[in-house]
Amino acid sequence: MTIVRAHDYNDMSRKVANIISAQIILKPNCVLGLATGSTPIGAYQQLVEWYKKGDLDFSQVSSYNLDEYRGLAGDHPQSYRYFMDTNLFDHVNIDKSKTFVPDGMAEDYEAACAAYDAAVAAAGYPDLQLLGIGNNGHIGFNEPDDHFSRGTHLVDLTESTIEANSRLFDSIDEVPRQAFSMGVQTIMNAKMILVAANGEKKAQAVHDMCFGPITPSCPASILQLHTNTVLVADEEALSKC
Ligand code: GLP
Repeated sequence: MTIVRAHDYNDMSRKVANIISAQIILKPNCVLGLATGSTPIGAYQQLVEWYKKGDLDFSQVSSYNLDEYRGLAGDHPQSYRYFMDTNLFDHVNIDKSKTFVPDGMAEDYEAACAAYDAAVAAAGYPDLQLLGIGNNGHIGFNEPDDHFSRGTHLVDLTESTIEANSRLFDSIDEVPRQAFSMGVQTIMNAKMILVAANGEKKAQAVHDMCFGPITPSCPASILQLHTNTVLVADEEALSKC
């Protein structure tokens, strides 16, 4: 794993955006695996800025997002589809019909998860998979467990994740208790993995991801086995490394 040290959140965001930009410039029809959460917002803002300056062209890019809350429709302000639209897709020239986020409202969710996996596989898996990391070491919504997950699946969120994500909802009761997430095996199929992390709250998870034992109790630790993983993290997130 290559570790890139950033001074602070802005520096991390620009470095992450630079790496994503390089991917788009080198392969205009690349497949991006995209993430939500507070961490990538600054990188998405930077990408939008560069797009507006004429430096980036998303017209041939397609994307697959990691996860979505179960029970939230795409127009719900806390859904991850809405997040992607408002933070990135609505501001660049990406063809939205080529942007995919798991369907939080799928009734036959097992079929929907299988179809999502088949679509990611048919696309050849992401050229670059962007990841944040949860305070407990989760990636996507793959929570600590006794095994690593494979494909897209339904997840029961842990109390710590529900609490961490409640800051974005009016009350903790509104946070969905379940989500759909791409599996760890699917994530590992990406050709390059780019993890972004900032802030002291991530320090233990970042340490365990990079230097702890490879164990499903810290799902991000499996990234040690991926041959092309880059971590961009600020000083606080690296403070335990
Ligand atoms: C959320 C998302 C993850 C994200 C992580 C960290 O639960 N499902 O994809 O990486 O938690 O979020 P944040 O960037 O807001 O700290």
